[in-house]
Amino acid sequence: MKIAIIGATGLVGRKIINLSEEYFPKDTSYTFFASSKSKGTELVINKNKLIVQELIDENISEFDIALFSAGGDRSKEFAKKFIEHGAYVIDNSSAFRHDDEVPLVVYGINEETINSNTKLIANPNCTTMGLVMALKPLHDKFNLKSITPVAYQAVSGSGTQAVDSLSKEIEMGDDLKEDYADGFYPRPIAKNVIPVAGNLLENGYSDEEMKFVNESRKILSIGDLTVEPSNARVGVKTGHGTFCSAVFENEVSRESAIIAINNFDGIEYWDDPLPTPLDAEGRDNVLVSRMREGLSSKKILNFWVVSDNLLKGAALNAVQIAKYVSEL
Ligand SMILES: NC(=O)c1ccc[n+]([C@@H]2O[C@H](COP(=O)([O-])OP(=O)(O)OC[C@H]3O[C@@H](n4cnc5c(N)ncnc54)[C@H](OP(=O)(O)O)[C@@H]3O)[C@@H](O)[C@H]2O)c1
Repeated sequence: MKIAIIGATGLVGRKIINLSEEYFPKDTSYTFFASSKSKGTELVINKNKLIVQELIDENISEFDIALFSAGGDRSKEFAKKFIEHGAYVIDNSSAFRHDDEVPLVVYGINEETINSNTKLIANPNCTTMGLVMALKPLHDKFNLKSITPVAYQAVSGSGTQAVDSLSKEIEMGDDLKEDYADGFYPRPIAKNVIPVAGNLLENGYSDEEMKFVNESRKILSIGDLTVEPSNARVGVKTGHGTFCSAVFENEVSRESAIIAINNFDGIEYWDDPLPTPLDAEGRDNVLVSRMREGLSSKKILNFWVVSDNLLKGAALNAVQIAKYVSEL
């Protein structure tokens, strides 16, 4: 099997490399792509050093699978070219997530939307991915009608430059003031919470908030799901957390909600300790906690979800999909 990893030098790409060692046969051949800046960089997979190639037409050849994590513009320009060379493309960017003919897949929830004719598969955004992992078993049990998610998004969700900026701001200690304007975000992020994640749109919501709306509906196949999202960026390196209030058609119970979650692959319920982003970092499973029945209705559940945005939120899900299509 031949696998191309596009964006191999990035936060997500490097996780994909690590996971590929575990998920794919040892005789798999790999090609790493990144920008001209990284051309010639050495990266190691299965103890073999590989030279990173520049992502240009001349370097594209036949692959079985191409995993894209290099931003939407690269996906738009190059995904179809890899498909023409015979590859399945699994794309981590938002470029194709809304296309009707492109499945938006969370492995464990809706991989059956992929068939042998599907060549392009979109990986959902990292915050939605963690939340839908918790919502799916609850929806199967109680029939989901509406959600109000409030997300605390980690800095690594914005890529390498954002992580470097957080490290620098942390090193500044007490010299970091509220008017610091040289960081990745418009406001300081270390020791701080910025009450918007992503870019604000004309409707007053951010693009990250609208991903909750559009992607949850598509993944869970609930076209009329009501979604009222609010997303903040917090001074956490890795691990997106979300408090969610969910309304169901049927009456709920805390106990059966926890059982449903614990019976679902890829997710687990923790009472003690309460799971934080630090607990989620490096962990494949999505963690759920603070399950409470609603105060105003027997049809409401309120809970906390936290997951590693680079693993199930990106690289792990992409590699799980790649493994699945390699066996179709
Ligand atoms: N971070 C997350 O939690 C997360 C979650 C889900 C989806 N995603 C998506 O995954 C993608 C990568 O995110 P990331 O966090 O890994 O970002 P990152 O750390 O900034 O890495 C970006 C990668 O894209 C490559 N790249 C940039 N411009 C390129 C060009 N012109 N040609 C070829 N390669 C180019 C970079 O190569 P160089 O090193 O050579 O610049 C690097 O390998 C983005 O589309 C992002 O939206 C990220």
